[in-house]
Amino acid sequence: MSELRFDDRVVVVTGAGAGLGRAYAHLFASRGAKVVVNDLGGGRHGDGSSSKAADTVVEEIKAKGGTAVADYNSVVEGDKIIKTALDNFGRVDVLINNAGILRDKSFTRISDQDWDLVHQVHLKGSFKTTQAAFPIFKKQNYGRIIMTASNSGIYGNFGQANYSAAKMGLIGLANTIAIEGKRSNIHCNVIIPTAASRLTEDILPPDIFAELKPELIAPVVAYLCHESCEDTGLYIDSAAGWAGKYEIVRSKGSLLRKSKNEGVSVENVKNVWEKIKNMEGASRLSSIEEATGSLLTALEEMEGGASESKENGAVENVDGDVFKYNSRDVIIYALGVGSSLKNEGELKYLYENHEEFMALPSFFVLPAIQAMFMSDFLERAVPGRTVNLSQVLHGEQYIEIVGDLPTEGTLVSKISVAEVMDKGSGAAVVVNVDSYTPKGDLVLRNQSVVFCVGAGGFGGPRTGTKAIQCVKKPARNPDKTVSQQTGVDQAALYRLSGDLNPLHIDPNMAIMSGFKTPILHGLATFGYSIRMILAVYANNDCKLFKACKARFVKPVLPGQTLKVDMWRESNRIYFETSIAETDTVVIGGAYLDLKSINMQPSVNKLSSGLQSDAIFEFIIDQVKADPGKAKSVGGVFLYNITKDGKQVKQWTMDLKSASVYEGAPKDVKANTTLTISDDDFLLLAQGKLNPQVAFMKGKLKIQGNIMLAQKLAPILKANSKL
Ligand code: NAI
Repeated sequence: MSELRFDDRVVVVTGAGAGLGRAYAHLFASRGAKVVVNDLGGGRHGDGSSSKAADTVVEEIKAKGGTAVADYNSVVEGDKIIKTALDNFGRVDVLINNAGILRDKSFTRISDQDWDLVHQVHLKGSFKTTQAAFPIFKKQNYGRIIMTASNSGIYGNFGQANYSAAKMGLIGLANTIAIEGKRSNIHCNVIIPTAASRLTEDILPPDIFAELKPELIAPVVAYLCHESCEDTGLYIDSAAGWAGKYEIVRSKGSLLRKSKNEGVSVENVKNVWEKIKNMEGASRLSSIEEATGSLLTALEEMEGGASESKENGAVENVDGDVFKYNSRDVIIYALGVGSSLKNEGELKYLYENHEEFMALPSFFVLPAIQAMFMSDFLERAVPGRTVNLSQVLHGEQYIEIVGDLPTEGTLVSKISVAEVMDKGSGAAVVVNVDSYTPKGDLVLRNQSVVFCVGAGGFGGPRTGTKAIQCVKKPARNPDKTVSQQTGVDQAALYRLSGDLNPLHIDPNMAIMSGFKTPILHGLATFGYSIRMILAVYANNDCKLFKACKARFVKPVLPGQTLKVDMWRESNRIYFETSIAETDTVVIGGAYLDLKSINMQPSVNKLSSGLQSDAIFEFIIDQVKADPGKAKSVGGVFLYNITKDGKQVKQWTMDLKSASVYEGAPKDVKANTTLTISDDDFLLLAQGKLNPQVAFMKGKLKIQGNIMLAQKLAPILKANSKL
């Protein structure tokens, strides 16, 4: 890269008799600029004056072959400094506002003079010099200005209230000059230096002081003032051979009222205070237009969104918690609840480009959990008690999906406490969280029952009516049982979906909470159970999910095997989840409601045994779910299944007593005997082989009551999906 030069440029550096200003003057001169070395030559506190400081620097520059002239005016008379440049060099191109003093005192001890002097030199001085140079810059359509601010202003610093205020004032001054100068190619940027100088010799620790050479900052200032630098309005922090940029950011904020017709109360503000402060999703704003523009967009949301939707009875409070999610969140969740490419049909939970990519229904407990975490509802829930989340056990969960839920989007959740029960040792709080689309359509209901340890005895009712009830499992043996081992890192993975409670990852925290090792999230077990039930009864079609209720009984340790026992009664699947290794129930009283059943024999079953086995298993489920339908057919059917011409299995369909089982009829006589090959039986069940054709071609042999066999159609028809 060719050297960045300042030949024929005239550079004014204020306060260039020492410290940073001196380093700037030297660097500009070494790059060909004609430099005005301004310095009043006063003391650190703005006392006295002398020409020595400026003269010395001018001599140093000249000794190195550079061009410089001294100026001894105070910056407060900035016009005189600019005149020195014009008188000596006929123009001015760059102005570095650098002169500075300190009058440090603790706030109450700052006198008017301490205040005024600091403001005079820093703020008024920069104003005066810049105002004198600005018309010249404008005329020549070129100018570069530097303001010198300080971290003392940005962060505050004990004993520097006057200085902090003046330095932040310079940032405001630079902001507007950058705007007003832009059209005339006048740039104004801010340097925020940290350097060893007489201003900092008793402030910075000695070892750090030695590293902070002003010469390491000068190149940053020089580059900002070079004609090739196109930036304006920047705040650049620099020290010790490092530089970085500051920016103004603003949180997403929160609306404080539901519609423009309403006022704002102090309580409104308190309610959404955490949201106002939350910097997640904060935006960088670079102009007033941008700042007000984004505010107007937020207000539009209030008008069009919340108030309109209020009319259709939807989102009533604008302080609903906003939950944004995308395909990545959906996939991380699916992994957290054990979805795996090993499980047939689960690629669609894990791959965003899968044509049926979908979110597991239990993913949608997350907006409710986030809303509960963000809210201080517990503080107000139990009369006379202040409860916080650390005292809370998750007792029960209900989720119901009522609308379409895409794989990415935004949900606005509204939390309300339905009732609080006094259980003596604690309080049971029933919390409803309803979630809406941003337009206000209700899509999702969650209900959690949380137990607040130690918050009982407040005189409330012991039982309530608002909690969705758990159910008793059927007395018979489970219809289906599915097991899956969780991973040792299961909780580490699940927590990435938002529940970062250290109890699930930190061994010390687990011990403090009374567990030997970190435990799996109850909601992860909940998600596992739902996914496994959907695999069995919905062919992994999440759209068939309606609702699920479960009670958390005991914790699971990552690595243990979850065994889900399932009982189907019509479209309701009762279930119980336990740890296979210890036979401990972990989820009880539970059910999952489906819109309809979609059972498919798995490919594994098809390849490992007889195809007809899977079909008979399906028929068993159908008959169990609707025994009335089976009985309406009546009759006892014996199936002889053949393979390669040999009979390999017998099945009995006793529809008189609605029982289907392997082998010959027990204690009854078959009315009809059907003989068919395993392959043809599958084709028949799939609807690919017409029973009449099969009969005519001799593929299906029927003995006994043929008319009765025809009545089998509705039962077999239900298999048409197979
Ligand atoms: P310095 O004290 O070494 O240099 C400041 C120079 O300004 C002195 O030579 C002084 O005689 C001159 N000056 C004071 N009042 C003047 C006036 N009314 N008119 C003309 N010249 C005047 O200080 P240093 O550290 O080089 O500071 C330079 C600038 O950088 C100052 O604005 C300071 O506030 C700022 N700054 C410095 C930091 C540091 O770590 N050194 C930190 C943050 C800001």
